[in-house]
Amino acid sequence: MNLDGATALVTGTNRGLGHHFAAELLKRGAKVYATARRPELVDLPGAEVLRLDITDPASVSAAATTATDVDLLINNAAFTGGGNFIGGDLDSIRAAMDSNYYGTLAMIRAFAPVLARNGGGAILNVLSAVAWMTFDGNTAYAAAKSAQWGLTNGVRVELAGQNTLVSALVPGLIDTETLRAYASGSGVVLPEHRLNDPADLVRRALDGIAAGEIEILDESAVEAKARLAGPPTQFDLTAAGAKADL
Ligand SMILES: NC(=O)c1ccc[n+]([C@@H]2O[C@H](COP(=O)([O-])OP(=O)(O)OC[C@H]3O[C@@H](n4cnc5c(N)ncnc54)[C@H](OP(=O)(O)O)[C@@H]3O)[C@@H](O)[C@H]2O)c1
Repeated sequence: MNLDGATALVTGTNRGLGHHFAAELLKRGAKVYATARRPELVDLPGAEVLRLDITDPASVSAAATTATDVDLLINNAAFTGGGNFIGGDLDSIRAAMDSNYYGTLAMIRAFAPVLARNGGGAILNVLSAVAWMTFDGNTAYAAAKSAQWGLTNGVRVELAGQNTLVSALVPGLIDTETLRAYASGSGVVLPEHRLNDPADLVRRALDGIAAGEIEILDESAVEAKARLAGPPTQFDLTAAGAKADL
């Protein structure tokens, strides 16, 4: 897919990775709908800013009615909390599924016909290596990312006939404020050499889309996926890799 001249919609662009996606797409000559629940926080000169909550059906439908020229959908927005299944707050567990799984699904269902009308285009879902390793302290989020991986694979099969590339970005750790806050709140020292720089990561992801790749993995994700052939593992935040088998 040629990104110069593409029309992209990115979710969650008011901070973190989503902001970097929108900025890099603008740099590459794409038209960008930069979306956020709080559009007043979006600082992306040159982008068309839209209010969008991916868990609100009316908001999703309004975005699809406005952004009819989209040929690249980047599903980045997510609630990255959730906590643990046992003893955690059930509303947070549901919120993890609501954004990562149902929110991403709602976006894909709303924009699949738009993409079809615009030649097929591409969808990039932002997953996580914890889709393939559980994460004590945030097991609900890890499971939501596993569900989002299944969703990504299913939708790829279903949309192949309309020529839509469905791709997954699967990173270990990304150096965002959310990750830094989580680590300092849990007293964890992050492995600085294993953190993805968000600007680098979006460049790799967009190069992957341009090359037609269906999965774009960093080092942590490559290791996690390889270990799926063995017993289940859990994620070690201090190493950005797998801990001993469960
Ligand atoms: N950081 C990491 O280490 C890491 C690692 C692997 C994968 N990821 C994935 O990478 C993506 C971005 O992570 P990040 O670290 O950049 O996260 P972040 O800084 O916490 O940003 C999350 C973004 O999603 C938005 N969002 C949350 N719920 C939403 C909803 N219902 N509708 C619309 N927007 C919503 C947030 O908006 P508000 O400001 O309104 O909340 C924010 O813009 C996520 O999919 C995450 O799971 C992150």
